[in-house]
Amino acid sequence: MTVKKLIIVPDEILRKKSQSIEKVGQDEKKLVNDLFDTMYHHKGIGLAAIQVGIPKKIIVMDVLQKEKKNPLCFINPVIKKISSQKSKYEEGCLSIPNTFIEIERPKTCLVEYIDIYGKKKSMECDGLLSTCIQHEINHLDGKLIIDFLSKLKKDLIIKKLSKTKQNKDRILV
Ligand code: NI
Repeated sequence: MTVKKLIIVPDEILRKKSQSIEKVGQDEKKLVNDLFDTMYHHKGIGLAAIQVGIPKKIIVMDVLQKEKKNPLCFINPVIKKISSQKSKYEEGCLSIPNTFIEIERPKTCLVEYIDIYGKKKSMECDGLLSTCIQHEINHLDGKLIIDFLSKLKKDLIIKKLSKTKQNKDRILV
């Protein structure tokens, strides 16, 4: 079990665009396992490889989050269709501590991807699953939930998070 260190805003690594996977090999399989360990450890419902500093198009998700697990892994995911109907959720992000933003996204979407065995697949996603996969695919493009806010609000959050980081390093003796 490997819980990887999470990359937190304002680290510029999160802005990198992730690269497609040519072939799902041992390294990728190990990474997928580590991503699941990291996501479950932090009680998230989704995690993209870039959030542990690796710019590869790999996403893990589990929107059940109960005793019963439903691990999902998407490699090279692409959204092929979106609904005009929208749904709204308060979204958080493991890379942006203590921040929740209400975001409206297409209620359903069709995602094409390859699975851990390198097989081409597609999935019709609805509700929370749809929001979650869109959030994670945004990560692969270097986009974060704070980008949905006005510049003023976004800057405030980044400033606050930068300060938190400084405080952690500060010692009082
Ligand atoms: Ni996120």
